Amino acid sequence: MYNVTFISKETGETKSVEVDPEKYPYYDHGEPGSLLDIALAHGIKIAHSCGGNCACTTCHVIIKEGDDSLSESTDREDDLLDMAPGLTLHSRLACQAIVESGDVVVEIPEQTIHIVKGGH
Ligand code: FES
Repeated sequence: MYNVTFISKETGETKSVEVDPEKYPYYDHGEPGSLLDIALAHGIKIAHSCGGNCACTTCHVIIKEGDDSLSESTDREDDLLDMAPGLTLHSRLACQAIVESGDVVVEIPEQTIHIVKGGH
């Protein structure tokens, strides 16, 4: 069991959830066990315009702790991230980063929240 903590950059709100890799997938968007999969299943909104198919940048999140607990990014994810606003060294696409081996703390950037509010 791993703890995944989501922090909203906009409101400062924090929510921690416990996940069990044997129960992946939790939801129907993104890779099974991805941060998007886990977030949506627990009522945490992360934009996902392409439906979690690694074809946009709206699910951009920043990993504050636990980069090594996640699956490695693919070349395709890295190429898309290059176009994400507010890119950092710890940026990932939530639909592709799978919680594999430990606890993770994730910040949801303001841009990502805003897109959710826009109705996508
Ligand atoms: S939802 Fe489009 S790349 Fe993640």
